[in-house]
This record gives sequence, C-alpha cells and structure tokens, in this order.
Amino acid sequence: MGDQTPNDYILAHKQDGIMTIRMNRPEKKNALTGAMYAAMTTAMDEAFASDDIRCVLFLGTPGCFTAGNDISDFLAIATSGTRDSMDVFQFLERIIMAPKALVAGVDGIAVGVGTTMLMHCDQVVASREASFKTPFVDLGLVPEAGSSLIGPQIMGHHNAMALLSRGETFSTERAMAAGLVTHMVESNTLEERARAVARDIADKPAEAFRQSRKLIRGDRTPVLERMKQEGDLFLERLKSDEARAAFTAFMAKGQTKKAS
Ligand code: COA
Repeated sequence: MGDQTPNDYILAHKQDGIMTIRMNRPEKKNALTGAMYAAMTTAMDEAFASDDIRCVLFLGTPGCFTAGNDISDFLAIATSGTRDSMDVFQFLERIIMAPKALVAGVDGIAVGVGTTMLMHCDQVVASREASFKTPFVDLGLVPEAGSSLIGPQIMGHHNAMALLSRGETFSTERAMAAGLVTHMVESNTLEERARAVARDIADKPAEAFRQSRKLIRGDRTPVLERMKQEGDLFLERLKSDEARAAFTAFMAKGQTKKAS
C-alpha cells in the first residue's frame, strides 16, 4: 500500500460478467472523496454500457467497507459555503436508477453513505463482524441517498428511525433482521461469498433477469426525487453551526490522537 496514489483509491475490474468496484483507501477507512465518487460512477457507466457485464459488485478492504463521505470535504463545504462538484449526486443517481444488478460485500464498518448505498443494492452479503451506522443527525445533517424514503420501506419505521435518525449502530444480525442485509457470512469468506452471489446473478438468463429485476424494483423516480430533496437540505445543513461544530470536533480528534 506504500505507493498508493489517489488513482488507486477506487479499483475497478471486469471479470466473468461482473464489474467489481473496490473502495481502497484503507488508511482513511475508505472515506469517499469527490474523485472517488466520480471514479465509481465512471466504472458503473462502463458496466451498464457493456453487454458482457451483468452485475456490479461493491467491495471495501478487509475490516472496512467505508467510513462514508470524507469529513474534510464536508468541512470544506461548511467553511467555504460552496461545493465544487456534483460527483456524489451523480454517483447516487447511478445506484438509484441502476439498470443492472448491484451486489455489495461488506466487511467491518459501513458508515453514512456506506450504509445508505446498500439500500439500493439488490443483494447485500455482510460478514458477521460488520456494523452499520448513519450518524447524520449527530453530525448536524439529514439522511441522504433517498434513504429517508426507501429506508422505512425496507426496514419499517422503527428500524429506520433507529438507524437514520438516532444513529444507532446495527450489527449484521440486526441489519439482517431489519432487511438491510441478505446474507451473513464469516469474514474470511466474505469476498468469495459475495462474488458467488454476483456470479449467480451474472449466470441467469439475461433478459428474464433484467425484466424481473425491473418489476421488483418498481418505479425509482420517487426515490430520485427524494434524493434531490434531501440533497438540498443536506447542503443547507452542511453550512449550519451544528454541522460545522461536529466536523471540526472530528478533525480535532485526529490531531489530538497524532499529538499524543
Ligand atoms: N472522513 C475523513 N477521514 C476519515 C473518515 C471520514 N469519514 N473516517 C475515518 N477517517 C480517517 C481518520 O481521520 C483517521 O485519519 P488519521 O489517521 O489521518 O488521523 C483514519 O481515517 C483512521 O480513522 P480512526 O478514526 O483513527 O479509526 P477508528 O477505527 O478509531 O474509527 C470510525 C473508525 C469509522 C468509527 C471513525 O473514523 C469515524 O467515526 N469516522 C467518521 C465516520 C463518519 O461520520 N462519516 C460520515 C458519515 S455521514
């Protein structure tokens, strides 16, 4: 990992009908920057356009799916009052409207968008040790990625409130009971099991699978609309005193850790 550059933060690889997209910035817990969202969007576009690719598989690194959006990027928006790109929204639009199957393999922490993106995946394979958390409100923010609409549909009101508003951490067991995770596996078999699910999808009769998935997912336009509505609020909240204080405290914690 010593020679890792930002180009390596997202690794995309096509094989056996599957586009694997790996978040690969372990020293920052795979926290996602604008450039990383853009790289994932490009890989998805390539997968959606290719007749050979039937399924997209999202992976992180051992012990970490992703710690969510990079908080220093949040802080930059909070202090400058402007955002410099639409990368995150383009990424979210792609996963909400994805015309091909999305599978995730989650080991370790899945925070913020690391959890909400799973609501748009068709199957979610998680290790027994994974955990799921969306501390939006504690950061002075609101839920994103259409999760305020689709979260209660998947998990019911009480679970959605616990996860999305109270910021409770869900274990894999709880996430599975809530309907967010489809398979619980041992961590040392995570990638193999997630790939097997993706492979199974890739091997199905293509057109029958595509039509069935489309029927099951239903009309995603309302989810996209909600994502935009949440996005406006989210950007407003990013500039709030509550959010600024939370981001500054997180960044300061890192400095204190380094100094001690
Ligand atoms: N944005 C930017 N940097 C992040 C990050 C994030 N979302 N999550 C982790 N990092 C960085 C830390 O600042 C630290 O960097 P440093 O070594 O340069 O100080 C490094 O990744 C390791 O994180 P650390 O906090 O030391 O690891 P941990 O195992 O003690 O805790 C988490 C892991 C995920 C619980 C913790 O990092 C965390 O709470 N991150 C923020 C998650 C979050 O709120 N995301 C936004 C959701 S909307």
